[in-house]
Amino acid sequence: MCGIVGFIGSRRALPVLVEGLRRQEYRGYDSAGVALVSDGGMWVRKTTGRVAELARAVADGPGGVVGIAHTRWATHGGVTVANAHPHLDSLERIAVVHNGIVENERALRRALQAEGVVFRSETDTEVLPHLIRKFYSGNPTDAVLRALEHIRGTYGIVVAFADHPEMLIVARNGSPLVCGIGDGETVIASDPQAVVEHTRRVVYLQDREMAIVRAGEVEVRGFDGGVLDLNVQLIDADYDVANREGFPHFMLKEIHEQPRSIRRCLLGRIQREDGLAKLGGLSMKPRDLVAIQRVITVGCGTSFHAGMAGAMAIEALARVPAHCEIASEYRYRHPIIERDALFLAVSQSGETADTLGAVQEIQLKGGQVMGVVNVVGSTIARTTGRGVYIHSGPEVAVASTKAFTSQVTALLVFTLMLARTRDLSLPRGQAVAAALDSVPEHVTHYLQNPGPIDQVVEVVKNARYVLFMGRGYSYPVALEGALKLKEIAYLPCEAYASGEMKHGPIAMIEEGTPVIAIVPMDDQREKTLSNLKEVEARGARIIAIHTEGDEEIAALADIAIAIPAVADFVSPLVTVLPLQLIAYHTGIALGRDIDKPRNLAKSVTVE
Ligand code: AGP
Repeated sequence: MCGIVGFIGSRRALPVLVEGLRRQEYRGYDSAGVALVSDGGMWVRKTTGRVAELARAVADGPGGVVGIAHTRWATHGGVTVANAHPHLDSLERIAVVHNGIVENERALRRALQAEGVVFRSETDTEVLPHLIRKFYSGNPTDAVLRALEHIRGTYGIVVAFADHPEMLIVARNGSPLVCGIGDGETVIASDPQAVVEHTRRVVYLQDREMAIVRAGEVEVRGFDGGVLDLNVQLIDADYDVANREGFPHFMLKEIHEQPRSIRRCLLGRIQREDGLAKLGGLSMKPRDLVAIQRVITVGCGTSFHAGMAGAMAIEALARVPAHCEIASEYRYRHPIIERDALFLAVSQSGETADTLGAVQEIQLKGGQVMGVVNVVGSTIARTTGRGVYIHSGPEVAVASTKAFTSQVTALLVFTLMLARTRDLSLPRGQAVAAALDSVPEHVTHYLQNPGPIDQVVEVVKNARYVLFMGRGYSYPVALEGALKLKEIAYLPCEAYASGEMKHGPIAMIEEGTPVIAIVPMDDQREKTLSNLKEVEARGARIIAIHTEGDEEIAALADIAIAIPAVADFVSPLVTVLPLQLIAYHTGIALGRDIDKPRNLAKSVTVE
């Protein structure tokens, strides 16, 4: 969601800025723009649509060596060139790119207008260059700091001054920014993926910090103006994800990467012979684990679904009460935070505003919250301080696939760790560890022969409505399958717990309605089978995801997709695979933009 790039060095800035935007395209956006300090002034170009449009518009641009660029995901004001960033002050000598939301924009806009400022856009961001201009009397740092004193909300900003081509000013409060220090040049970005091709030496800005950035130099200051120690870190070369490894889309690449990503998540964490699990990042001894009276997972979207599956396993295997909460609801519903509960904030990006808000609310009320996060050093990882990295590697496609399976895997590892401090015996612990250990093999096995996905695509691609259903561990999988189909194919669909069918959704079934049922061989199978017979009697076309060898389900279904036989608690890790493929191939059949679906953003950093 919104991407920032800044560059200062001695080579042409435009190609660096445009490529930096391109590498952040996966975050989701609807317009793009660039500002260069050039010929003593500010050279600006903005376009709606893809970065490729902007690249065409700036192809003959000047050779300036300092600039800032942005991809915008509209919040305040429509998708127009005027609303695209960078935004300028009235003299067009100060340019700002901004991620986040200025909450007191209306009051600031009115006050500035009363002083004679004419606004050119409907954005909240535009108050920033005007405020900076108001406080500018030759010193860029002071002007930015004074302007920020008036801003309420979240921001990551980069400011360029035509009067000061030797520096860029950067500031952060809630929206991530990283400065990559290269040889005689510095690249700033909202995402390390835009930096890693230039340098691996980076400084992550923390909240309420600013930086004065020069070519090859970064000086970090607090908002009180005091200079802070520079914490230079090396980012993983893994961040360089521009490569689709021969797959036509990142989503397909990431689906096929799951045997590896799940294995990485398990690596060094399972002791099969002792039936034990170890998660060093939690820093919890058996005594601490025994004190946990309840586990609450919190997340949004796919991460919420993973949290649901994880909570079910925790309750079933560790016998600790557990449930999952939607982060955006939880943070505002004045929850009771029990002191002996453990909260797990599940987030691929580690930047989701709603999940972060829930974390802060839990911490404010004295609760214990840890992260289950993919992106190392992300805001949720740092705010929680302790947790589990899922190690799925960078996920580029907007539709989450490998992060889901790694999140569930990490929660299952935690389940084993918790369960062995409770009732779970050594032999059962060994069985759980073995089941986890064998997941990558089962995932590989399924992906080698995924079944008649193309037949499913033919059935669903023109459907007016698609219903997903499942029980127990298959209910979060049904929710996840429906979310994927909405995101990638834009098809009207919903997911229900199979038992809820008779309480309403069955009214939607008519002759030919596709019903995708997740019905593996577990102790809920018989119940789902009855529900399938009910929809069959009303003319539904049944697509069943069933366990290999379950001939009864295969015979009942119009299209049957077999998955390997696995223990019930790991079943989401295999039953979700055909649903990911159905969404992907339906999206392809309908000509959708797979890796950048409409209206969506990869990290949802605003509410
Ligand atoms: C999944 O396909 C979505 N892109 C979305 O639901 C996502 O899972 C959600 O926004 C949460 O993101 P997070 O895991 O980065 O916190």
